[in-house]
Amino acid sequence: MKSPLILGLESSCDDTAAALLRGRAVLSSVVLGQAQLHAQFGGVVPEIAARAHAERLDGAIKQALDEADVTLGEVDAIAVTAGPGLIGGVLSGVMMAKGLSAGLGKPLIGVNHLAGHALTPRLTDGLQYPYLMLLVSGGHCQFLIVRSVQEFTRLGGTIDDAPGEAFDKTARLLGLPQPGGPSVETAAKSGDEKRFRFPRPLLDRPGCDLSFSGLKTALLRQRDQLIAEKGGLSVQDQNDLCAGFQAAIRDVLAKKTRRAIMEYLKENPAEPALAVAGGVAANMPLRAALETVCAQTGLAFTAPPLALCTDNAAMIAYAGSELFDAGHINDMTLSARPRWPLDQNAAPLLGSGKKGAKA
Ligand code: KG4
Ligand code: ZN
Repeated sequence: MKSPLILGLESSCDDTAAALLRGRAVLSSVVLGQAQLHAQFGGVVPEIAARAHAERLDGAIKQALDEADVTLGEVDAIAVTAGPGLIGGVLSGVMMAKGLSAGLGKPLIGVNHLAGHALTPRLTDGLQYPYLMLLVSGGHCQFLIVRSVQEFTRLGGTIDDAPGEAFDKTARLLGLPQPGGPSVETAAKSGDEKRFRFPRPLLDRPGCDLSFSGLKTALLRQRDQLIAEKGGLSVQDQNDLCAGFQAAIRDVLAKKTRRAIMEYLKENPAEPALAVAGGVAANMPLRAALETVCAQTGLAFTAPPLALCTDNAAMIAYAGSELFDAGHINDMTLSARPRWPLDQNAAPLLGSGKKGAKA
């Protein structure tokens, strides 16, 4: 029997996205970014984002249908991000999905955005449950044991900034271009990671929680000291600061990943695996450190291709397809949830990043 054709919609942050999926085949995946709309404000402006989603969703859907060479009438179900994220954007997507569902008479499926990220390794690599997931992006940072489309155990997460946010702030403080991750990584290649001392936050405490805001403060202090002493920063100073900062993020994530792996292995998973997703997963020194930890602890290591690591609607369609197969269909009471933790039993994480609630 042919797998159902799922239309996925994503609008929880600053990407307006639509995708068509059949089984594990991504027929199309359209992502309309909004970076230029927010650039002058130094962060995502929720009202601007919501308006742009409302204006662009239908165009994204049309483009996704055209690229997949299917019609709206052929769609079997509509999956939409119903949270967590910026409320205006999530509402735009949910309203669009409800309209389509009512108009076409097709099932509506509300998807948790983080579940979309967390299930992507099943879409790309067919990973078997339960696997360990490290989600590291500009808005999120958490370790999850992924057990099924609806069962997640959060082992820990950031109590303040997300790592991508820290990379972006570092770039801003050093006058490097946004997004900060790639600029800092490039500068760090010519830097000496040992020249400046950066803290390794929360390593002295048990558990898998993380903190990144102190690194930004440390960077600010080192930068201001250099400026006070020499009247400015040389390129070498910038490179060395980037290298030291990146090494601190890499070390903290690698050490906490090792702890998370120890927790996960207590459950004797049949095919132990770690998957990493989110924009920061593009960072090569971080990837290398995680691969080493996996090799030492006997886990397979997976990182989906970048286009599916960052925000997209194919991941929402995929999580929607698993929910659909399990019979989890929503009705018109589906509501937008700005906060929606994957692990309902975990204590709420503190803080809220530039990209909305961390859940
Ligand atoms: O997943 P993503 O596209 O968006 C959300 O946060 O939802 O992640 C974007 C973040 C940005 O903060 C960016 O600076 C960071 O990922 N990033 C990187 C790299 N490429 C992107 N961070 C470190 N190293 C990179 N190479
Ligand atoms: Zn995301």
